[in-house]
Amino acid sequence: MKEKKMMMLGPPGAGKGTQAKALAMMFKIPQVSTGDMLRAAKQNKTELGLKAAAFMDAGDLVPDEVVIGIVEERLKADDAVEGYILDGFPRTVVQAEAMEQKGIELSYVWNIQVPDEEVVRRLSGRRTCPTCGTLYHIEFNPTSEEGLCDKDGTELMQRDDDKPEVILNRLDVYKEKTQPLIDFYRQRNLLIDVEGGSKPPKEVFRVIVQQIEK
Ligand code: AP5
Repeated sequence: MKEKKMMMLGPPGAGKGTQAKALAMMFKIPQVSTGDMLRAAKQNKTELGLKAAAFMDAGDLVPDEVVIGIVEERLKADDAVEGYILDGFPRTVVQAEAMEQKGIELSYVWNIQVPDEEVVRRLSGRRTCPTCGTLYHIEFNPTSEEGLCDKDGTELMQRDDDKPEVILNRLDVYKEKTQPLIDFYRQRNLLIDVEGGSKPPKEVFRVIVQQIEK
């Protein structure tokens, strides 16, 4: 079996975070989500967070050099020695090239394919638990008690960038800046397409694990 150095690629709302969390739990390797790291920095009003906030709220990408630095630091931690799941990074060809130059390896790139209208449905209904990070969807994955996390009862929140006008910009940014990575990783024989628009999360997960265990 190959090393578990994975990357989740796909449009906003494709289910990258959902699958990355499940894979991290199964293989006991960290989910390295640049979105989560930047949101935490923003919430804690750190220097990084203050720099990133305006880009994130508009649905634009944070400058490459900022993101490359935080991922490089994160991957030095002991828990990432055996493998990792990059979720939301790299997001541009510049980031992907910088990663290669720094010797950060990948063995699988999961390209989760979801049509635009499904992206909009998923993001506008997404809710997150600020305490434990569990993801829900008001329609596809509702909580037992409306608005409260099933695991710890915390009131769920909606992300600032899940507003309709910001979602549309995120989709445009994905097509312009991130979609070129599909060819980039196909050329390197790392890309595996996963149909993620019409299957529930558990089914998408089953398909990914089957590929890993091949
Ligand atoms: P980030 O947090 O990475 O956001 P994103 O890529 O837009 O992706 P999302 O987190 O919105 O979606 P997802 O694919 O993880 O889907 P999820 O599993 O949550 O980035 C946010 C911002 O940070 C960026 O806009 C940028 O500003 C900045 N940033 C981050 N990384 C950067 C980088 N490398 N460079 C520069 N800037 C960067 O699922 C969505 C919903 O759908 C959930 O409700 C879920 O329950 C539901 N769902 C999931 N799978 C399914 C399914 N199969 N069927 C039905 N529902 C499903």
